[in-house]
Amino acid sequence: MSLIPNINPKNAEIIEQFGAEITALSPLGVSVEGVDLSAQDSPPDSVLRALEMEMAQRGFLVFKNREQISEDDFLRASCWFGGRELNSTHGVHPATPGGNRHIFRLSNDPTHGIPGVGPQWHNDGSFLPDTFSHSGYHIIRPAEHGGGTEFAHQGAAFDALPEELQSYWSRLSSVNSNSGVVHPLVHEHPISGRKSIWLHLGMTGAVIEKLPDEEGFRLLDADELKELCHTYNDILNDGFDKGYAISFEYQEFDCVFIDNLAVAHRAAATAHMPPEKQGLRIMHRSTVKGMQNLAPGFGLPQHASIIGPSPYGDGVWEGGGVGFRWDDGIAMRN
Ligand SMILES: [Fe+2]
Repeated sequence: MSLIPNINPKNAEIIEQFGAEITALSPLGVSVEGVDLSAQDSPPDSVLRALEMEMAQRGFLVFKNREQISEDDFLRASCWFGGRELNSTHGVHPATPGGNRHIFRLSNDPTHGIPGVGPQWHNDGSFLPDTFSHSGYHIIRPAEHGGGTEFAHQGAAFDALPEELQSYWSRLSSVNSNSGVVHPLVHEHPISGRKSIWLHLGMTGAVIEKLPDEEGFRLLDADELKELCHTYNDILNDGFDKGYAISFEYQEFDCVFIDNLAVAHRAAATAHMPPEKQGLRIMHRSTVKGMQNLAPGFGLPQHASIIGPSPYGDGVWEGGGVGFRWDDGIAMRN
C-alpha cells in the first residue's frame, strides 16, 4: 500500500472537465494549474469537493498562479473548503494591507510581518475545540535563498507507528496550554477516514491517559511527556526518508491550501533566517472555520481548566505560553 494514495482518477477527470489540471507532487501534495483564483465566480461544487478530497488524501494543494492575486482573491478561495468561512483569531501586523483582520502576515523581517512563527510541528488553531479545517498560505514574496514550509502526513505517520504505540496513543488526549481545549492524540479524519495523529509541539500543557484496563484517567509525568513529544517529533521527521513528509519551497505567486487535520506543518529552519542572508520572505496566512469539534473520547470534556489544579492527579499540568518544554535546546513558539 502506498503511504500517500495516488490522485483519484475520478477527481482528476472532474477537474479536467472544468479546464484545469492536477498533478501529484512527490511524495505528497497536489499541484493545481488552470484555476483562476481572481475570478469572481467560484468553480462548481463538484470541482471544489474533488479538490477538497485530494487535500484530505494528499495533504495540501498548491495553486500555481500566473500572476499575483489580491488579498480578496486569496481570502475568497480560502472559503471554498471546510467550514467555508474564515475564523481569524490572530493579531494584525501593521504592514498588513488595509489592516485586513483575516490576514496573518508573516515575515523574516519584523517590519514586514510577524517573525519566528511555528518552528515545531503543529496544526493551526489547536487552541480551538474545532481547530481550523484548512489554512491558506499565500506567498507575497518568496525569499531568494529558500525558506519554505515542511508538511508531514499524519495518517501515514500513524501507520508508521509500532502497534503498541498506536494502541497507547489512541488512549491519550492533549490539553492546550492556552485555552485548556482537549483533543484526542489519534482521530479519524472526517473525509479520508484515516486514523491520524495530532499534537501541538509548541502549545501543549498536559496529556491525559485513559487507563488501559479500568475506568479512570491519569496524567503523563514529565519523563513520559518528554518521551511522547520526542517520539511524535521523530515519527513526523521520519517522513522525509519514508515518503510521507516534504520540504516545500514556494515559488512566486504560489497559493497553498492545507487540510489542517491531515498534515502537520512547521516553518523550515531557513524561513527564520535573517533577510540579509536569506532574502526577504513575506507570507499571508488565512484560517478556515472547522466543521466539527475535534472531540476527545472516553467521555472526557472538550475543555479542562489548565490554569488551576489538575483534576487528574499528579503529572504535568502547565498552563500558559508554550506549555510543557519537551526539549530545552529548541525554539518553541506558537
Ligand atoms: Fe502554522
